[in-house]
Amino acid sequence: TDRSLLVLPGDGIGPEVMAEVRKIIDWYGTARGITFDVTEDLVGGCAYDAHGTPLTDATMAKAQEVDAVLLGAVGGPKYDKLDFSVKPERGLLRLRKEMDLFANLRPAQCFDALADFSSLKKDVVAGLDIMIVRELTSGVYFGEPRGIIEEGNERVGINTQRYTESEIDRVARSAFELAMKRNKKLCSMEKANVMESGVLWREVVTEVGKDYPEVELSHMYADAGAMQLTRWPKQFDVIVTDNLFGDLLSDLAAMLTGSLGMLPSASLGAPMANGRPKALYEPVHGSAPDIAGQGKANPIACILSFAMALRYSFDLGDEADRLEKAVEKVLADGKRTADLLGEEGVTPLSTAEMGDAVVEALQAG
Ligand code: NAI
Ligand code: MG
Repeated sequence: TDRSLLVLPGDGIGPEVMAEVRKIIDWYGTARGITFDVTEDLVGGCAYDAHGTPLTDATMAKAQEVDAVLLGAVGGPKYDKLDFSVKPERGLLRLRKEMDLFANLRPAQCFDALADFSSLKKDVVAGLDIMIVRELTSGVYFGEPRGIIEEGNERVGINTQRYTESEIDRVARSAFELAMKRNKKLCSMEKANVMESGVLWREVVTEVGKDYPEVELSHMYADAGAMQLTRWPKQFDVIVTDNLFGDLLSDLAAMLTGSLGMLPSASLGAPMANGRPKALYEPVHGSAPDIAGQGKANPIACILSFAMALRYSFDLGDEADRLEKAVEKVLADGKRTADLLGEEGVTPLSTAEMGDAVVEALQAG
């Protein structure tokens, strides 16, 4: 098979939700003849326990080599007192840094059956399906100079927003490529009215857009974008923005749709020799120590992360649609893990039961 996948379940509920994804991967092999070369390995606290480091060099090398990495979650109270250099999070940070994953994709997708979960009106979010692309490796979180300095008789806190043309160009290209795989609509957000980096951002994105004439490109100031995202989010399809604005806007967009147990993400880097981008897929949630080991975790965020891998790493958009529809059907049938339950009198599904329900829905087609 020419589809390689490194699976890193990690800690806490990571292995529990990943076990359900493995069922789905197996289903694709037997039912659809779509097979993956899967390697499973350790990351985070469990890697520290086994090897004294949250990510071994061998695992790192493997991650560089495969088409996609699928990660569960890392961390937990057991590791809170460890030295920062070997903390579980460091494993994840090393993956992101060495794979140079500069484009962070955060979809905000609202399944009709869960529209009541949103803090917004049902008609504003029902059927919502947008994607925020956040630049992840540059901008004001990294720019120099930075620090707290003495000036006169007081201190000054300094950060620098800094973007090179090539940094903007590459994340813009990722966003246009995504737009081509979706609805060919891209909105770029910055503050070109008050920031030089915003002026350059708008210029470079416009320039890259010439290579994607089929994509309808628009620009919006990021503050207005925040308003529009809450007023009528369905006007957007793909949004591309910088690190800081993307941090805020993607958290805002995530909460349009409800539960943490439902949110997938992807981080993409440069295209590899085979044309596929370097890629890491993971649920937005963490290792949830409060429910770990109890079979309560919702596996859907991790399952939808795999759907993103199908679409964005393996060009299997139809199969991604199929998987998302299966999830939609399960929810429409009223099946819920505990995190999705408001009403009394409904028995929650366990993690494994939810995974099985998705496989059944796939099978029922
Ligand atoms: P968390 O996302 O693990 O949990 C927050 C709350 O949401 C908890 O009440 C949890 O039970 C619930 N929750 C999360 N995912 C769920 C799921 N799939 N199904 C049902 N309920 C779910 O965030 P928290 O508690 O702040 O962090 C716990 C640990 O995870 C920490 O060690 C933290 O460092 C780590 N973490 C790791 C991340 C990663 O691996 N990317 C991201 C965020 C946190
Ligand atoms: Mg944030």
